[in-house]
Amino acid sequence: MNSTSYVLAIILAAGEGKRMYSKKPKVLHEICGKAMIEYVVDCARKAGVSETVVVVGHGASEVKAKLDNVKFAYQEQQLGTGHAVMQADNFITSGLVLVLYGDTPLLNPETIREMYKFHQEGGFHATILTAEVDNPFSYGRIIRDASDNVVAIVEEKDADSEQRKIKEINSGIYLFDGKFLKKALKELKNDNNQNEYYLTDVIKIFNDNKLKVGAYKINDIEEIMGVNNRLQLSQAASIMSNRILEKHMLNGVTIIDPSNTYIDEGVTIDRDVTILPGSIIKGSTYIEEDAVIGPYTTISDSHIGKGVEVKNSVVLESSIGEGTTIGPFAYLRPGNSIGKYAKVGDFVEMKNSNFGDYSKASHLAYIGDGDVGKGVNLGCGVIFVNYDGKKKHRTKVEDNSFVGCNVNLVAPVVVGKNSYIAAGTTVTRNVPDESLAIGRARQENIEGWVRRKGLLKEEE
Ligand code: UD1
Ligand code: CA
Repeated sequence: MNSTSYVLAIILAAGEGKRMYSKKPKVLHEICGKAMIEYVVDCARKAGVSETVVVVGHGASEVKAKLDNVKFAYQEQQLGTGHAVMQADNFITSGLVLVLYGDTPLLNPETIREMYKFHQEGGFHATILTAEVDNPFSYGRIIRDASDNVVAIVEEKDADSEQRKIKEINSGIYLFDGKFLKKALKELKNDNNQNEYYLTDVIKIFNDNKLKVGAYKINDIEEIMGVNNRLQLSQAASIMSNRILEKHMLNGVTIIDPSNTYIDEGVTIDRDVTILPGSIIKGSTYIEEDAVIGPYTTISDSHIGKGVEVKNSVVLESSIGEGTTIGPFAYLRPGNSIGKYAKVGDFVEMKNSNFGDYSKASHLAYIGDGDVGKGVNLGCGVIFVNYDGKKKHRTKVEDNSFVGCNVNLVAPVVVGKNSYIAAGTTVTRNVPDESLAIGRARQENIEGWVRRKGLLKEEE
């Protein structure tokens, strides 16, 4: 749209969405990590509207909590789409009004912009977004006169058998001149089969008042698909998912098996990243160039540095520095900051920890609430004993220390830099820099014991 004209978007989102069979308001159901209503609000914003009002009703407080930078109107009882728009009457000026639904997440801003152009160039007072469909059942039908002008919309439930044959349907998306919409809303009645105030009746009122109504017909009916149940939710999600994957591939990301890769809408991926099958990348994750993700990896709300490899692992709310390798089978719980060229190998669990550049935990370790410096080696079976049954404590392992296999570090404790901890040691006291800590029972060998006990196996 252009900067000179004021456009108010009114998004209808008061309905319950009964067929979702859900505690959650329908428009808050997510596709690709984002609520349906957020897609619609973003679409309006990207199309260039001046202001957005969301009409809320069912689950109003939850819907309100989800959205920023929009205004709200409240519809206590759902008495129809016309009634819903009436609730936003205070916001309507003489500028343009764009009506959208909160449950059509696939709409593209370009379509709105083209519809706007069509509206302006045609000098219309109202424009309906329409489409020809093979099965128009349940939709409002576009009624045209002999000279092809749009004169009304008739709802399925009010249509006669001839009208039901019409294949051009109302998407429910409209542009109106605010001044005339405001007037028409006052004239709406609910004398129809559903006893509802239909927004669609505004079209007939416009026509009766000799105002010009246009229909902007689109071919891609996917865009106006409304989500009413969980089946349609999954269909919409799969369409959205394909759009997201295509965008990344066209931007230079290699995705080996798109049908087996899931990327949320809010994810950013640099070029030359490779994503192997079975990867799920969620939230606000950012992946830098040359990283290799997967196979079978879940990453959520994390920052993955340049050239990092993450194999068969789960990474949550963590950041990983350039050149580091993760997995296979590592579990990074929230709150880790891992440095560059480090290694977190198989069966390593880490949470709420810092792990320095060039440090390694190659296998079988638990690093909880740790501060591990640079160049540290944590051997197989090292456990950060962070929990005393009541509280969590931190363990610090300073630069270039070597922690042997099966060491327990009982927090709070500090291992100074350049130290060694002997395998099997349970560390309960701080270890000074450049020291060896060893704490385990001394080994005894009892010679000849097996033969004396008669346990020796017969030699063949
Ligand atoms: C509406 C149109 C129909 C169109 C179809 C496209 C009317 C009368 N009919 O029918 O011509 O083909 O959309 O999908 O407008 N809502 C409210 N408050 C209400 C009623 C509805 O906020 O009182 C919201 C709903 O939450 C939903 C949207 O408006 O997001 C559409 O309502 P719905 O009842 O689904 O309209 P349809 O009967 O499908
Ligand atoms: Ca509907």
